[in-house]
Amino acid sequence: QVPHVSLCVRASDFEAAAKATLPNKSWIYASSSANSGASLQGNLDDWSRVSFRPRVLRNVESVEVGTKILGNATPLPFYVSPMGSMGSIHGEGEIEMTKAIVQTGLHGLMSTASTKTTEQIMETYLAEQERRGNGSASKLMFQLYIPTDRQKAIELIRRVKKAGFHSLWITVDTPVLGKRTADRYQQAQEALDVGLEEEEVEPAAELEVETQGGEAPKVSPKIGGRPPPGQLSAKTTWEDLKWIRQEWDRPIILKGVQCAEDAKLAVEYGCQGILLSNHGGRQMHTAPSALMTLCEIRTYAPEALAKLEVFVDGGLRDGADVLKALCLGATAVGVGRPFLYAMAAYGAKGVERCVDVLAEELTTAMRLLGITSLDQVRPELVNARRLLNE
Ligand code: FNR
Repeated sequence: QVPHVSLCVRASDFEAAAKATLPNKSWIYASSSANSGASLQGNLDDWSRVSFRPRVLRNVESVEVGTKILGNATPLPFYVSPMGSMGSIHGEGEIEMTKAIVQTGLHGLMSTASTKTTEQIMETYLAEQERRGNGSASKLMFQLYIPTDRQKAIELIRRVKKAGFHSLWITVDTPVLGKRTADRYQQAQEALDVGLEEEEVEPAAELEVETQGGEAPKVSPKIGGRPPPGQLSAKTTWEDLKWIRQEWDRPIILKGVQCAEDAKLAVEYGCQGILLSNHGGRQMHTAPSALMTLCEIRTYAPEALAKLEVFVDGGLRDGADVLKALCLGATAVGVGRPFLYAMAAYGAKGVERCVDVLAEELTTAMRLLGITSLDQVRPELVNARRLLNE
């Protein structure tokens, strides 16, 4: 039973709605996490370990929530995280998400592992902009999994550039795929159901990486336990950023930075931004939450915060929490599963509702914190001691 959309009053409410809507395999793909689930749980929990230090009697009648991401205006300080194979979640997954992005004016990232091509996605984006009389601030950005084959990688980057994507967000936390435990159980059960021995099972086509390059949809994974080799380049190093830079003259952001040393290297290698992320708890077991990494960078690589735009994602489920990241120096926050779940249950309209929910929580929180615009955020407005001492 899918609840009426008006009953989704918090971003986390879309989870149950998606579970009630999706076939089991798609639900598992969207919700699963690595190993014991500790990274995912840490992401969710750490937002509450930072508390606010509200100021009172500040005249907070009118509040301005707009800011800039990589120099472009955005109506809200969060954006849509890239998620692969949206076609397995909703028949027109990437198309619905693109419509929601233009409608809300948010910036949005499209995954290399999309079930629609980069060109189809951009076409939808431009058509929606046109339909709205170019009234939307949204920008489409591209998430890159670097293909193993250099020539293929170059072709893909050129396509993305030609299509007009605004920036390249290179995912660096996925030299190999993490152990997605729920998918493994599901695949093993499926093999048992059809009477196959484990050795007889073909490696699973991993939904998150199989459609690399935005090629034609292939969303039903074969049964099996391990992803096939060769789809992700485990050989990638910092030096590869040099040839990528020659192909791409717009902003480069590294997605999946998890410590201060790598933040410093991102500055050295000429990146414009870093996204502190553990891939929504889907990759490294017991990885730090983005808030922990942000605190680490504040202490050990403050120059990176000054020189780069710093984004965070993972476990964000309340608009008020966005403010904490901003107070600690982040430019904006990425939101993944809540938007995916909202789309699964209610299509583009669901995503718009989820954005409204987060926006309302954010504006209320700003008033209760005693600020009226995002240029007033500062570290003194939060207390991160509990996060750091535990
Ligand atoms: C992801 N994520 C992801 N990241 C990436 O760089 N490329 C990808 O193709 C995908 N695909 C993907 C699929 C699904 C189903 C999920 C849930 C996540 C990670 C994503 O961009 C982001 O880092 C996290 O989702 C943020 O955490 P929350 O908001 O989902 O908790």
